[in-house]
Amino acid sequence: EQLAGHLPTGLKGLDEALFGGIPFGVITELVGPAGIGKTQFCLKLSLLASLPMRHGGLDGQVIYIDMESKFSSKRLIEIGAQSFPEIFHMRGMAQEMAGRILVLRPVSLAEFTESLQQIKILLLERRVKLLVIDSMAALASGEFEHGASKINPLGWHISFLKSVAELSRIPIVVTNQVRSQSNDDTWRYNFQVGTRRQDLEDTPKYDSHLIAALGIHWSHAVTIRLILETISGERFIKVAKSPMSPALAFPFSITSSGISL
Ligand code: GTP
Repeated sequence: EQLAGHLPTGLKGLDEALFGGIPFGVITELVGPAGIGKTQFCLKLSLLASLPMRHGGLDGQVIYIDMESKFSSKRLIEIGAQSFPEIFHMRGMAQEMAGRILVLRPVSLAEFTESLQQIKILLLERRVKLLVIDSMAALASGEFEHGASKINPLGWHISFLKSVAELSRIPIVVTNQVRSQSNDDTWRYNFQVGTRRQDLEDTPKYDSHLIAALGIHWSHAVTIRLILETISGERFIKVAKSPMSPALAFPFSITSSGISL
């Protein structure tokens, strides 16, 4: 698959593992339990996509579909001011950066469908460098019951997103919440953590959970899956599905400057 470029996450090890960052032209999924930091990650990515190029950004605009009202401009500006003080201390820059992020808040599947239609136009009119959907699972849990007999109403949306990624060559980042796994049913897998190897819980059950929620079609649409989770009190980002990276895990923390390794 030919990739047109990457959005660096600013997390060095992760960027190296992903050959430069979140790839353009495909869907990247952030999976993890409530409160792990998926939204914080998306805020950071939104900043990085909108920052001027001389500061390592993509100098673009961001479409942020905020399904659960988790987006916070205040937090975005805080992360920006802490991470990129030289830009955010310039007069009017914080507002300018925040203004580059267009937040859509659909409250139903019908409105979500409308938002996607709107995106087609926005992609033509603006210099969009990132599309975030936080979260997709929120739609599935509210609007339809799980079960093999039910038709997945998100089928069209998933195909649409995949084609938007491919045609517009932008990175699409989608979050999905899963319940944290119980310890009695632990699968272990040997992950590379920094310079050492460590047995961490593998997460095959996330697969079945996400398939139950969003359908097998979704799993196939996702090119990169990053799993965020807490293991023995420490937060990790794992590269769980990637065409090019081996199983890698990176400890991370969330501070006033957002997500950092
Ligand atoms: P769900 O949407 O509930 O699935 O969670 P999430 O994975 O999106 O979590 P989110 O990104 O909202 O991260 C929540 C965590 O980020 C909290 O547990 C805090 O540790 C941290 N956090 C959130 N806001 C702030 C903040 O303003 N300052 C700091 N230092 N940490 C924050």
